[in-house]
Order: sequence, then structure tokens, then C-alpha cells
Amino acid sequence: MSHEVVEKNVGLMAVLIFIVVSIGGLVEIVPLLFASQTTEPVEGVEPDPPLEFAGRDVYVREGCYNCHSQQIRPFRAETERYGHYSVAGEFVYDRPFQWGSKRTGPDLARVGGRYSDDWHYAHLMNPRDVVPESNMPAYPWLAERELDPEAVVSRMRSQKRLLGVPYSEEQLNEAASQLEGKTEMDAVIAYLQGLGTAVSR
Ligand code: HEC
Repeated sequence: MSHEVVEKNVGLMAVLIFIVVSIGGLVEIVPLLFASQTTEPVEGVEPDPPLEFAGRDVYVREGCYNCHSQQIRPFRAETERYGHYSVAGEFVYDRPFQWGSKRTGPDLARVGGRYSDDWHYAHLMNPRDVVPESNMPAYPWLAERELDPEAVVSRMRSQKRLLGVPYSEEQLNEAASQLEGKTEMDAVIAYLQGLGTAVSR
């Protein structure tokens, strides 16, 4: 009966459609008003220093995310293995984030400090030298390729200008000299050693 009333009355139908669409709209809009709370950096989280920033680009280029996630879920099986679960504020400068969804290898969100630099070097040169049963590919060329400091610095500048990552002018001016003579291997290792260290385990 009531259905018939609505169907035969265009004005009423228009009003009801408006109400339904408004509710749908609010459900999408209201959470955005609180977005600033979720983009607040966790205490201790800083934008990646130059070498780590460069290493992150190598990580993305080599597709490490195809086998490694960087997001620890809040389950006991995960936190006992990897450490404190990941929180939103850890990723505010991580653009694009490297959460990933495939774990052929372990999650790397808190791998920083778990191994020595030498271990990482040996592992990336040939994973089987340190983990005999590993099926991770070797990345020996990273040790031969030198970074292009100017290219890295201009990427940092663009992150500051376009995304508002708070690098200071001083940091940007000093960045090139910190990257001089470093290889992609140095960069990736620095990046891995920094992962997840802002939040205690
Ligand atoms: C084909 C899948 C695959 C790719 C691609 C891959 N890995 Fe792995 N990775 C693994 C597997 C499997 C392991 C576990 C065995 C081992 O330690 O080698 C692993 C282990 C690791 C570990 C040790 C983690 C721990 O907690 O023990 C690190 C660090 C790592 N990988 C870094 C990288 C980096 C950096 C890249 C990209 C340059 C990369 N991986 C690419 C499969 C992969």
C-alpha cells in the first residue's frame, strides 16, 4: 500500500530519494573530517633521510613488495613474530605506501635492526649464502650501481613541494654530499635498517 503511495507521487519520491542519497553521502564525507587525526605522524616518525629515501626507490624499482609486505596485523601470531602491529601514523611519509598483500617472504615492517648491515649485504648478494633454503632472488648489481645524488635530491624536493613532506632547506642542501659515492646497495640496506624503528617493539 505505502509503496503505491510513493510510486504515484513524484514529489514525495524525489524527497525520499534525496534523503537516502544524503545518508550515503554523509557516510562517505564525515570520516574525511577526521582525516587529519589519521595522518598525524606517530612520535619519532621523521621523513626518510637521503640515503634511506634513495633506498626506498630502489626497493620499489626492484619490486621487493611483490614478495614482502610492510604491514603487521594486530594478531598474536603476527605480533609475536614481527613485533608491534603497524599503526597509521607510521606511514604518513611513506608515499606510495609499501604495505603490499603478498608474503612469499616475511613481513619487513620492523626488520630494522634485526640483522647487521653485513648480513643484509651477504643476503642481497646471494640469499642462499645466509639462508640455504631461501628462494629469494639475488641482487648483486645493487653493489655496483652508484646513486645519482642530484636525481635523489630532486625527488626529495618534489616530495616536499607536491606532498608537503617537511624536509628543511638545510637537509636538502646537505643531502647530495651525504649520497656522494654511495651505491644502491648502501641505500637499500640503510632503508631496511630504518624500517619500523620509530615504534618500540
Ligand atoms: C621472489 C620473492 C622475493 C623477492 C622478489 C624478494 N624477496 Fe626478500 N625474501 C624472500 C623470502 C622467501 C625470504 C625468506 C628467506 C630468506 O631470508 O632469504 C626473504 C627474506 C628477506 C629478508 C629477511 C627478512 C627476515 O625477517 O628474516 C629481507 C631483509 C629481504 N628479504 C629483503 C628483500 C629486498 C630488499 C628485496 C628487493 C630488493 C627482496 N627481499 C625481494 C622472498 C623475496
